[in-house]
Amino acid sequence: MTTTLITGANKGLGFETARRLIEAGHTVYVGSRNAERGRLAAERLGARSVLLDVTDDGSVAAAAKTIEAEGGLDVLVNNAGIEGRTPDGGVLGAADVTADMMRTLFETNVFGVVRVTHAFLPLLRRSAAPVIVNVSSGLASLAGVTAQGTPAHAYPGVAYPASKTAVNMITVQYAKAFPGMRINAVEPGYTATDLNGHTGTQTVEEGAEIIVRMAQVGPDGPTGGYFDVSGTLPW
Ligand SMILES: NC(=O)c1ccc[n+]([C@@H]2O[C@H](COP(=O)([O-])OP(=O)(O)OC[C@H]3O[C@@H](n4cnc5c(N)ncnc54)[C@H](OP(=O)(O)O)[C@@H]3O)[C@@H](O)[C@H]2O)c1
Repeated sequence: MTTTLITGANKGLGFETARRLIEAGHTVYVGSRNAERGRLAAERLGARSVLLDVTDDGSVAAAAKTIEAEGGLDVLVNNAGIEGRTPDGGVLGAADVTADMMRTLFETNVFGVVRVTHAFLPLLRRSAAPVIVNVSSGLASLAGVTAQGTPAHAYPGVAYPASKTAVNMITVQYAKAFPGMRINAVEPGYTATDLNGHTGTQTVEEGAEIIVRMAQVGPDGPTGGYFDVSGTLPW
């Protein structure tokens, strides 16, 4: 059984992933940027709770120190993410996106992944079977968004898909650097959560499936890959 940290696990796909991993007998830390939301989620789940804002160096360092002191980490799920919609709920398309908006989104979705991974690498390297799951998106795929007639092709956003393409590249480069770890990117599928105003067509149970599977991958499992529930996705 492993010890897993899931960032942004106080709700949505992270929460459901925590529920499933606990059900399977693992120890799970619910990472939350808000102490009360984290405490309540952990209480509902029977999880441990750790304060963790992926955009804040001090918060991430403190979380790493806490988890190290309590016994270490085997599995890191970089799940926290934002989509960055307009105030009226619209997707930020090419005509409207600004560098500042893009920077805000990258701070969470991209730099957050690097910040958290970097801080937890020393703990993961001490694990017998270290695993990292980066929660990406189908919209990360250049092949996907250029395939005419698909929902990915029709999505007009710029910053969110670009951030997830960066997550895929980060995944590949970390996987090459740490061949002893299993490091993969996953696409949960379009899932009804707060991220998309619950417009997603899947349930969180369905969406979390590939995250849960890759969080439990063994030392002989894949690394440096990009998967959805049906298998490997084109980059
Ligand atoms: N839903 C989909 O259709 C879909 C599809 C593909 C990929 N994804 C990805 O799946 C992941 C989870 O998304 P979701 O759909 O479950 O969305 P969600 O319900 O909105 O949950 C997002 C989680 O991330 C947390 N978060 C945001 N900024 C954070 C920060 N700076 N530090 C720490 N936590 C932070 C949120 O915390 P607060 O509660 O404090 O805001 C929340 O716990 C994201 O990476 C998303 O891009 C989702």
